[in-house]
Amino acid sequence: MRYLLIIAATLFAATASAETPRDFLTRFEKEAGAAASAQRGARFFTSKQGGEWSCSSCHTDKPTQAGRHAKTEKAITPLAPAANAERFTDAAKVDKWFRRNCNDTLNRVCSAQEKADVMAWLLSLR
Ligand code: HEC
Repeated sequence: MRYLLIIAATLFAATASAETPRDFLTRFEKEAGAAASAQRGARFFTSKQGGEWSCSSCHTDKPTQAGRHAKTEKAITPLAPAANAERFTDAAKVDKWFRRNCNDTLNRVCSAQEKADVMAWLLSLR
């Protein structure tokens, strides 16, 4: 009986933490209180906002392709879910990298609206 409970708990934890790229779009739109715009996301992603880098500096302006870190030159696998099934499936990872990359790129965190727009754009790429 105890084992059954452990198995049930493990299964539940596994499904509860499995997220899809669409879940993130829904979450960020809800946080922003407004619909996302893929067009705005594309502009945001590919243009510099005062800093040295844009998101495309490392992820390229075609994120279905592999990127390269602008400083360390380390390879980065594609960011667009259509090209990389591992992307946007883990909230801890997504939140960590949005925080870190937005700070590196904009010297601030990204707003929920900016994240929603980026998600909408990435999801539109084939
Ligand atoms: C200086 C290089 C660099 C820049 C600029 C950069 N990123 Fe990243 N990004 C990385 C690296 C490195 C990783 C982590 C390694 C990996 O996941 O391949 C990453 C991972 C991510 C992830 C994790 C997604 C997942 O589920 O795996 C997201 C989201 C992301 N970046 C979004 C952005 C956005 C949005 C911008 C612009 C505001 C941006 N990045 C700018 C280097 C960069």
